[in-house]
Amino acid sequence: MNTYYSIIVGENVELGKAELETLISIQTSVHDSKWVGRVFLFNAPIDPTDLIVNRAAYVREAGEVICMFDSIEELYREMENIALDDWIDSTQSFSVRHVNFAKDYGVSIGPNLSRFVGRVIKDRTGARVDLESSDIKIQVVIMPDNVILCKSKISRLRGELIKRTPGRKPWFHPSMMNSIVARSMCNLARIMTGETVLDPFCGGGGILCEAAIIGAKTIGIDLSWRFLQGAEANLKDIDPSRFTLIQSDARHMQIIGCDHIVTDPPYGRVSSTRGERAIKLLWNFLTLSPNVVSKGGTLCVSASSEMGVSDMIDSLGFRRVCRVKIRVHSGLTREIVVVEF
Ligand SMILES: C[S@@+](CC[C@H](N)C(=O)[O-])C[C@H]1O[C@@H](n2cnc3c(N)ncnc32)[C@H](O)[C@@H]1O
Repeated sequence: MNTYYSIIVGENVELGKAELETLISIQTSVHDSKWVGRVFLFNAPIDPTDLIVNRAAYVREAGEVICMFDSIEELYREMENIALDDWIDSTQSFSVRHVNFAKDYGVSIGPNLSRFVGRVIKDRTGARVDLESSDIKIQVVIMPDNVILCKSKISRLRGELIKRTPGRKPWFHPSMMNSIVARSMCNLARIMTGETVLDPFCGGGGILCEAAIIGAKTIGIDLSWRFLQGAEANLKDIDPSRFTLIQSDARHMQIIGCDHIVTDPPYGRVSSTRGERAIKLLWNFLTLSPNVVSKGGTLCVSASSEMGVSDMIDSLGFRRVCRVKIRVHSGLTREIVVVEF
């Protein structure tokens, strides 16, 4: 069993934590885990860090912990003695960075910490320093109670998600789900390659685009032909062969055998409900969802917090496994709820 770490970004922290823990649980069991601010530390028998950095919307980096120290002073004292052979060899290049999450606790570090660690690694292994594109990225994470020396993997997905923001897609409408929240909802739903994902209020396909990039077969339903044409333009851009779009009413959907539903029904603000009260529409759709999703599948739904989606889910007797709130702007807080069928 090895020790791993992951750092999430500072935006939508509650959602980021839920997403990370869900992704790790797809791959491995977790032991002795703890959150220290935005740093997650855990032991696991299988390394989940490739999955984490390739899939998580809110993860900045993840990796394996080489050594844990009680303080910076201990790192300075013990750095010469820790075993480095398993982590880096003379043929490789490396870089060292540090991040201080203990500033608010009065822990300050000199400017030379990374340089000191780099010098010890260079002297002891013969590896070459390369700050631009190193083979091995060493990260020193300073937390209030301890300091970890890690071999880190940096997420490139964050940059890709920003490039896939709705405004940069081939077709755009303000009601579209942004790529970062859409990706995290797909992760909370535990979507895997080859599975079938339905969004019965698919609009321009913000959620379906992320599901398609994960490798799912996607099905979109929407009342509006104009939105379906937009979804087609956006999904074609990803994979022309793996999506189905249907003009229909989510209150009467007759699809069966989907692995997951991931969706955000209209709140009656930017996106239209065509005269149907948003709450009634949400309720009608929820009552049908167990017929659509196969046993063992999931539903991940986002709605305005005023709509009471988790109360509806509880009153329907569904098994709710996650509930997170995110503040979109001063007038809108979203509630994201995950159900297992
Ligand atoms: C918030 S938008 C969906 C955004 C989309 N899920 C995404 O990922 O970008 C809501 C969509 O629900 C559609 N809609 C409204 N009432 C519907 C109904 N009864 N059945 C199906 N779609 C409906 C609207 O046309 C609109 O496109």
